[in-house]
Amino acid sequence: MPDTVLEIDDLHKIYAGGVHAVRGISFEVNQGESVAIIGSSGSGKSTVLRCINRLIEPTDGAIYLKGDQINTPQTDINQVRSRIGMVFQSFELFAHLRVIDNITLGLIHVREMSRKDAEAEALEVLERVDMLDRKDAYPGNLSGGQKQRVAIARALAMKPEVMLFDEPTSALDLT
Ligand SMILES: Nc1ncnc2c1ncn2[C@@H]1O[C@H](COP(=O)(O)OP(=O)(O)O)[C@@H](O)[C@H]1O
Ligand SMILES: [Mg+2]
Repeated sequence: MPDTVLEIDDLHKIYAGGVHAVRGISFEVNQGESVAIIGSSGSGKSTVLRCINRLIEPTDGAIYLKGDQINTPQTDINQVRSRIGMVFQSFELFAHLRVIDNITLGLIHVREMSRKDAEAEALEVLERVDMLDRKDAYPGNLSGGQKQRVAIARALAMKPEVMLFDEPTSALDLT
C-alpha cells in the first residue's frame, strides 16, 4: 500500500458568478509521485490547485493531506499553506526585494530560521535552479524564465510536504 500524501475526493467548485469550474474530480498523489493535470484553458486546472492550497473554498468535496482533512471550518489555513508549497503561474515574487530576500523571507518569518541559516539555504536552492549569479537582482530585472526559477527555488526552500505548480514550465526556455 503506497503512502498517500494528498487525496482529493469528489471536489466541486462553483464560483459566485455560477461557473461550475470543477465537477467532481478525485485523485490521489502518493509519496514521491508527480501528477500532471492537463486540460485546455479554462478547464479548471488552476481552480483545483487553489482549492488544495485553500486560496479559495471548494463548494463540495474533501481534501486530505496525509490523512488529515484540510477543508474543514477548524482547519488552520496558515498551517496548511506551510505544508503545501505553491509556484504560481504569475510567480508572485516581491518586486521590492532582491532574489535572495524573496527566498529568505519565509524561512525567517515562517520557519523561524536565523538570517544566516536562511541565507545559506537560499544560496543552496538558487544553485539548484542555476540562479546563484542573480541572487542580488530585483525581479523586475529578470526574464520570465528566471523569475519562474526563483519562484521554484523559493517554494523548494520551505521544504513543503507537497508542491503545487501552476503551469510550471510556461516561462522556461525550450533549450
Ligand atoms: N475568480 C473567479 N470567479 C469566477 N469564475 C472564475 C474565477 N476563476 C476562474 N473562473 C472560471 O472558472 C473556469 C476555470 O478556470 P481556471 O481554473 O482558471 O482554468 P485553467 O487553469 O484550466 O485555465 C473558467 O471558466 C474561468 O473563467
Ligand atoms: Mg490556469
